[in-house]
Amino acid sequence: MGLVLVEAAKSGENFKSDLDFIYFVRNHPEIRKNLIHPEEISYKDHIKWYCKKYANSTDICIYKMIISDNNTSIGYCDIKYDRYDRTAELGFKILPNFQRQGYGSLCIPLLFDKLGVYKNNYMIFLTVFEDNVEAVRLYRRFGFSTYYRDFMVVNGEARTLLHMSLNSLSERNT
Ligand SMILES: CC(C)(COP(=O)(O)OP(=O)(O)OC[C@H]1O[C@@H](n2cnc3c(N)ncnc32)[C@H](O)[C@@H]1OP(=O)(O)O)[C@@H](O)C(=O)NCCC(=O)NCCS
Repeated sequence: MGLVLVEAAKSGENFKSDLDFIYFVRNHPEIRKNLIHPEEISYKDHIKWYCKKYANSTDICIYKMIISDNNTSIGYCDIKYDRYDRTAELGFKILPNFQRQGYGSLCIPLLFDKLGVYKNNYMIFLTVFEDNVEAVRLYRRFGFSTYYRDFMVVNGEARTLLHMSLNSLSERNT
């Protein structure tokens, strides 16, 4: 079982199919329920964001997760860099049919490779709802720990949000 990360197109022949794939995954109801902004995104807004923001930014990197044996795209992960604050925020979205099969565990080291030198010099962080227990366990296994927790009301329900980081601000190389 192999997984590769391929950057979602910012131009060229795969642009439209990648734009559509990212939209499909991002809007999947099972995925949205674990996101901080669970609202469905309109296709029009997605096009605007993908074309204007993503395609023109070097601070947002989206990587499609592709099973190398059969070339199937199963989800995507992303990195949002803040070069001023020297932080990088990670996100993971795997389609339900492919969850709990070890792909998240394969993906994280691949994404760490993509982070390269930033991994040591940047604060690498993510946010996850505490009740998303499998995701939390996965992140802990790869060295993330909670540095801050707060609450969010989602659809009338209070949920604990964990802010997890790989290396705390004080550990960063200066
Ligand atoms: C969170 C998420 C990225 C995890 O990815 P994943 O591919 O499901 O993760 P893994 O399969 O590597 O690990 C998850 C669990 O499945 C288990 N697992 C791995 N291979 C398995 C297999 N063949 N059969 C059954 N379980 C398996 C792992 O052991 C792990 O359980 P454990 O922590 O108790 O050991 C993915 O579920 C997802 O995209 N969820 C929806 C969006 C989301 O919640 N994103 C995170 C928001 S911050």
